[in-house]
Amino acid sequence: MSVGIDDISFYSSGMFLPLATLAEHNGEDPDKYRIGIGQNRMGVPAQDEDIVTLAANAARPLINDENREKITTVLFATESSIDQSKAAGVYVQRLLGLGSNCRVVELKQACYSATAALQMACGLVARKPSVQVLIVASDIARYGFDTPGEATQGCGAVAFIVKAEPRLLSVHAENGCYSEDVMDFWRPNYMDTALVDGKYSTIIYLKALRQSWKNYQEAGGLSFGELSRFCYHLPFTKMGEKAHRKLAVTNGETMDEARLEQQIGAGLHYNRQIGNSYSASLYIGLVSLLENDAEDLSGKHIGLFSYGSGCVGEFFSATVQPGYKTFSRRAAHIDMLETRQELDYEGYASLFSHTSPKDGGEHYFAEEAAGHFRLAGIHDHKRIYTEVGE
Ligand code: HMG
Repeated sequence: MSVGIDDISFYSSGMFLPLATLAEHNGEDPDKYRIGIGQNRMGVPAQDEDIVTLAANAARPLINDENREKITTVLFATESSIDQSKAAGVYVQRLLGLGSNCRVVELKQACYSATAALQMACGLVARKPSVQVLIVASDIARYGFDTPGEATQGCGAVAFIVKAEPRLLSVHAENGCYSEDVMDFWRPNYMDTALVDGKYSTIIYLKALRQSWKNYQEAGGLSFGELSRFCYHLPFTKMGEKAHRKLAVTNGETMDEARLEQQIGAGLHYNRQIGNSYSASLYIGLVSLLENDAEDLSGKHIGLFSYGSGCVGEFFSATVQPGYKTFSRRAAHIDMLETRQELDYEGYASLFSHTSPKDGGEHYFAEEAAGHFRLAGIHDHKRIYTEVGE
């Protein structure tokens, strides 16, 4: 029996900052961001958006009367948690009208946890093939103004359904993991922005890739040559290019520009427009690959590398299912990205200085969100989620 991803959708905020605008304000050459890190824009959340609204907006197109009661588990991956106790997925379960006979939990390990969710979901489905699992990964990446990480901020959520005999991607049982206790990037509970040793983090990322690949090979995984396409965790798209070159060298392969473009290029499009979406990033890259690769990928094997600072890495593989293009949500995704509102520097600075209130007071937010769901306010320490226009 094959188990894997049956349907997938993503969402980012309705507002973005061009990185050329940020470069101008910071007195940097725009090519440092456009070419040096490979980013064009970054998603900026409105005041009435958070990880729950981003996630619910990403998942909404996937839910219908046919699967509503079959989804028996919701796994919510995030490192931008809004509560120390309650899983953000419980709000999503209500907003999407999912059945109440459903387990809901939140998972954390920096940008990696959606992959843990995927592996757990595959296990649940393998044990009981009638069930379906909804995975949502949602994050807002913040490093702070005038920091080296500022150009690698962003926000986004991805949602996918894991089931038996999936229509998009069959996930292979072979995988390779690597974990090490390192301080490359972290965010203590008392901080809104991440602490990061940027250069060190890129070195650790590549080390985790090499070690995860080695472990994947030891587990009987496919060879480099058997994999047609590769998706990487994308804090910025240049990191994916560096990772792929490194993996090629590790395998004694050469990697010219044309081969690099063919093997990873289509997977970079959306992330270049959104920025880092932490736990969602690898899977938004996967959507980008499936929707933008000019070739028919049916039957082709793809390699995926998930990385979360701190750190945990995992390399795994999957096979694209025949007919996958029939279920593409490309038009909706392109429309969502193209209809976003462009911000000037002041607009970005004002929105990004807004963080979730911590004073325990009453807060009501102006309606700015472009998606279907919004955070209307906080009352009596409780978050109030509504539909836009409600
Ligand atoms: P920086 O130090 O400001 O940038 O920050 P730089 O000086 O290293 O320049 C970046 C690149 O642009 C360099 O290329 C320059 O040569 C080039 P490279 O040497 O790397 O190939 N460059 C130019 N290119 C063309 N024209 C120009 C030009 N000028 C310079 N005019 C850094 C870069 C990534 C360190 C910073 O943005 C940062 O700290 N970001 C946050 C950390 C991060 O994203 N780390 C990635 C690995 S860790 C990870 O992925 C996990 C994470 O997602 C978190 C999680 O797991 O939760 C972050």
